Amino acid sequence: MSAPVTVYVPRDAAALAMGADAVARAIEQEAQRRGQPVTVVRNGSRGLLWLEPLVEVATPQGRVAYGPVQAEDVAALFDAGLLQGGAHALCHGPTEEIPYLKRQERLTFARVGITDPLSLQDYTDHGGLQGLRRALDMAPEQIVDEVTQSGLRGRGGAAFPTGIKWKTVLGSPASQKYIVCNADEGDSGTFADRMLMEGDPYVLIEGMAIAGVAVGATYGYIYVRSEYPHAIAALQEAIARARQAGWLGEDILGSGRRFDLEVRKGAGAYICGEETSLLESLEGKRGVVRAKPPLPAVQGLFGKPTVINNVISLASVPIILARGAAYYRDYGVGRSHGTLPFQLAGNLKQGGLVEKAFGLTLRELLFDFGGGSASGRPLRAVQVGGPLGAYLPESQWDIPLDYEAYAKVAAMIGHGGLVAFDDTVDMLRMARYAMEFCAIESCGKCTPCRIGSTRGVETLDKIAAGGPQREQQVHLLRDLCDTMLGGSLCALGGMAPYPVLSALDHFPEDFGISAARAAEPAA
Ligand SMILES: Cc1cc2nc3c(=O)[nH]c(=O)nc-3n(C[C@H](O)[C@H](O)[C@H](O)COP(=O)(O)O)c2cc1C
Ligand code: SF4
Repeated sequence: MSAPVTVYVPRDAAALAMGADAVARAIEQEAQRRGQPVTVVRNGSRGLLWLEPLVEVATPQGRVAYGPVQAEDVAALFDAGLLQGGAHALCHGPTEEIPYLKRQERLTFARVGITDPLSLQDYTDHGGLQGLRRALDMAPEQIVDEVTQSGLRGRGGAAFPTGIKWKTVLGSPASQKYIVCNADEGDSGTFADRMLMEGDPYVLIEGMAIAGVAVGATYGYIYVRSEYPHAIAALQEAIARARQAGWLGEDILGSGRRFDLEVRKGAGAYICGEETSLLESLEGKRGVVRAKPPLPAVQGLFGKPTVINNVISLASVPIILARGAAYYRDYGVGRSHGTLPFQLAGNLKQGGLVEKAFGLTLRELLFDFGGGSASGRPLRAVQVGGPLGAYLPESQWDIPLDYEAYAKVAAMIGHGGLVAFDDTVDMLRMARYAMEFCAIESCGKCTPCRIGSTRGVETLDKIAAGGPQREQQVHLLRDLCDTMLGGSLCALGGMAPYPVLSALDHFPEDFGISAARAAEPAA
């Protein structure tokens, strides 16, 4: 009997939702029926979501991709020579040659979709643990300096320099310090954290262990949103295996250093993604924002100095330590160093994950990667950076994706999610949705957000109703946004005006007013 052929069928939640389990079973059964041995590996997703389930076959010339595959396609695929990479309507040729993947710069996602996410051997065979091993030979200050020099900024939204945050925790003496990973991933159109946790959980574990060694923290928590059961299961299994292999525990990699961690399921509110609210939730309380100062870096979880970072921030650390700060810093533009996993969602033909260096444009993402609208109609607006991000009209699609360039036009890159809309979108409704979202998700601690968002919905309803008061209501709305922008305690109330004002500024016709009248100050 010939040696088994390796076939990859993703275990990622997006692939599972499209029937990946049934496809994996069908492949095993068909192979058995034909006496053609296969080894089915359940990998992470390559991020080409419109092709899920994307099945790959290992051939002597490399992996060959087929997708989207359904269980009922499997017999015909075997007839076409699936196990030899044979031609078929669903075949996309060598996976690495698919333009969507080939044009990417995968640093943080280097292993996602390639390895078996739970295999310790696969992880180390593909460069895993090099960063942690190097960190264990360095002084804490050197590790922090390396992260600072890399230019890495928080990928959770605020883009705060990671090294500076770590330095504060390192410099805060305490009997106990913590590393907290923010995996609440509440932004609309985002899924990079989930894909990474399901597709390469060890890289997050390694990043957290490096953070622990750097700042003197011996324990970590990964706060994962409750809607991510597959990510939670993958992390729990990976943590158990890593502990058993001595990558975690009392003596990590035989270094005499201690670090361990556990997964906590989120409480199911958008505000629990805000770092201080998350800490409250981790402590078993309701997710309400804490006033700052004190910063979590000084008094965080249970009052102890705490590093709180997003999944992608922490998962980017191993490659920075393994390849050096300069290697990472060389990617990107201006003060936006490294790469970002952009997430393409909404009305696009080719939704998925694109890791690229900062500096490319929205137009490239929408058309070169996204393939334009799924509906075939012209694209009109793109919301970048989650539900609190601005809507960008076509005139802004050529601005380089760079934190500072986006801030200049009152937009934000945030967690790198973008949601595209075609020309059937009603921007007044989208503005109303932003205010309504804020009203529903507000933690209630401060007045501009708690009351302002409800008044905002009412004002937008009056504008929608039309009539002679419409322009006055628009001015009132601007005034209200101003108060929320300046007076809110956290970015939920402080940024909800971004989508509202961008909709008003760029699409005034949807509010029933001309551009000139929309911009007039209140009488
Ligand atoms: C309303 C709100 C929701 C947030 N949700 C998330 C989230 O889901 N995931 C995340 O990483 N950061 C989120 N943040 C940002 C965090 O407060 C914090 O900046 C981040 O965890 C810091 O990690 P980083 O420096 O690695 O980005 C949110 C902030 C606000 C104001
Ligand atoms: S802005 Fe909203 S969510 Fe943030 S503290 Fe105030 S009430 Fe809470």
